[in-house]
Amino acid sequence: MRGKFITFEGGEGTGKSTQVELLAKYLTEKGFNVVKTKEPGGTEIGKEIRRLLVCGDKDKMDATAEALLYYADRHIHMVQKILPALEDGKIVISDRFADSTTAYQCYGYGERISKEVIDSLYKIAVGNFKPDLTIVLDIDPQKGLSRSFAKADGMEEKELRFESHALEFHSNLRKGFQIIAQNDPERCVVLDADKSIEELHQDVIRTVCNRLNLVANRYQKIQN
Ligand code: TMP
Repeated sequence: MRGKFITFEGGEGTGKSTQVELLAKYLTEKGFNVVKTKEPGGTEIGKEIRRLLVCGDKDKMDATAEALLYYADRHIHMVQKILPALEDGKIVISDRFADSTTAYQCYGYGERISKEVIDSLYKIAVGNFKPDLTIVLDIDPQKGLSRSFAKADGMEEKELRFESHALEFHSNLRKGFQIIAQNDPERCVVLDADKSIEELHQDVIRTVCNRLNLVANRYQKIQN
């Protein structure tokens, strides 16, 4: 049986990576075969592309170049890692996927690149493939950004290229994620990320159980 593809999306400092970790641990403990991955940088080539995109001056390339690089990373990621794992019946959990390009490169920059252009890149690079479930973590951008800067404090090579954009960019992309979720309610669920890690984790588990019917019975047992 084909596996399931779950993506986490959201702005900066929403706690996606932590929630990906916790969900992967939870599902693994329930006996599922889980692959944890991320964009950009889920493959060897992707790691090189990631460095180009997330480090350095925010103005070193424009939204079009960014979108092309993110889609190059995504295509390789899908072909080399995501699809083979799904064929093997695994649950693939990705920290970001295509909605990030729509939110950041289209809405973040005030639609300097149109949604139609981004959609055509999707068709070229991803085709008809899409996640089974997308969890959008939502938080006030100011709060998220301060979490992000605090986290980067001890890092050797700071991945703060997008954090360096003005608050307006981050407010735009937050609205962008909300539009994306509203337009595809079958696939997307928005969760309030301004909660404790554990509370949010419980919301994530509930969402995964309800939407994918994965561990419903076992989850019920834990709750009772
Ligand atoms: P991360 O730090 O959450 O892993 O994401 C890397 C950065 O890249 C983050 O600032 C968001 C940005 N990004 C885009 O702008 N477009 C995309 O398509 C993706 C996947 C990430």
